[in-house]
Amino acid sequence: MDDEWICGRLGEDEPWMLGAVNPPIFENSLFTFPNAAELGEAIRNEDERYVYWRGTNPTVDLAQRKLAALERAERAKCFASGMGAISATISSLVSAGDHVLVLGAVYGPTTQFLRYLEKFGVTHTHVVDLDACDSAIKDHTRLLYFESPSYMRYEIFDIPAVTRWAAGHGLVTVMDNTWSTPIFQKPLTMGVDLVVHSLSKYAGGHSDLVGGVVAGPSRLIRPLALTEYQLYGAAMSPHDAAKVIRGLRTLPVRMAAHQERGLAVAAFLEGHPAVRRVNHPGLPSHPGHRLALRQMSGFSSLFSFELATEERDEVAAFLDELRHFRVGVSWGGFESLVNAPALSTEESVRATMGIPAGLVRLSVGLEPAETLIKDLGGALERMAKA
Ligand SMILES: Cc1ncc(COP(=O)(O)O)c(C=O)c1O
Repeated sequence: MDDEWICGRLGEDEPWMLGAVNPPIFENSLFTFPNAAELGEAIRNEDERYVYWRGTNPTVDLAQRKLAALERAERAKCFASGMGAISATISSLVSAGDHVLVLGAVYGPTTQFLRYLEKFGVTHTHVVDLDACDSAIKDHTRLLYFESPSYMRYEIFDIPAVTRWAAGHGLVTVMDNTWSTPIFQKPLTMGVDLVVHSLSKYAGGHSDLVGGVVAGPSRLIRPLALTEYQLYGAAMSPHDAAKVIRGLRTLPVRMAAHQERGLAVAAFLEGHPAVRRVNHPGLPSHPGHRLALRQMSGFSSLFSFELATEERDEVAAFLDELRHFRVGVSWGGFESLVNAPALSTEESVRATMGIPAGLVRLSVGLEPAETLIKDLGGALERMAKA
């Protein structure tokens, strides 16, 4: 089964769909049953039976089937946001007294959530590489959480080596695969236990959706679906599931276009005298490039570069000079975006994540690379003259 077929057709030939080219949206909060016994049976298996929208919905199910197949997972569960998926997944795996290892830089609110868990007696330690895991692991470490490429710095971790180490120590591994999408990287095939995604980025692709997913084996997804999914209530709506299904239809071609444009823009910046360094794992100069080629089949278009300045105001001035890139959070949509951690993240937090003041993050959209290069070149030139 290839990814294009999964994205475009998987699960869409059911008789009840009547041959519709887009599956109907089930817009109902509940399902009814012919008798009380059948209702009781359905409630006991609510992760697989349709009872109430907060637990299951056929349109959401279709999105889940496609995402599970793309990640080569037994099952997937969609949430109302990426953070909904991440917080429910971590909660399902830890209990009071447990410890979590966080490898490399991860999305800020994920760290915030781990700090929040401290009030329930769950602690965590950030480590920079696999060697540091050896000294940071504790008797009660239960989980290893990471992203590859890592947040903002786009470092590459050796996924098979990480999962071998974690399995050897009896830890569950959870990886955020939002950056690559399952089109370019399949962590479960490299030993990761559970993969989480924000679907609000490339998977949705049109900046009109917030959603998340966790994918993995039934033995881990079923308890999560029956407990955290139901109790936290961060259920995906069928309308958002329909947008996910639409987004997946074009995901392989959009990712190819993002890759091409992102690499062209990154190569331009790498050759520019006003740029100190470019953090894009698709560039041969990136320290993780060879490793990336072993475990990824392509590169998305979110990356960062360093302006030759330590001044927050100069970074802000550069952003203001851009005409085509829009200034905003999030990424992975059709539109090119720029953001800079110096404008939003405290200096102390940036320092612990190794993020310099001059770091600028670009999400390269689907516009022609020449347009974007011209925009960046003009802004760098005007900044140099100011
Ligand atoms: C890497 C990564 N993971 C997870 C999330 C959270 O996703 P959401 O905003 O859909 O909750 C984000 C959001 O920016 C992200 O960048």
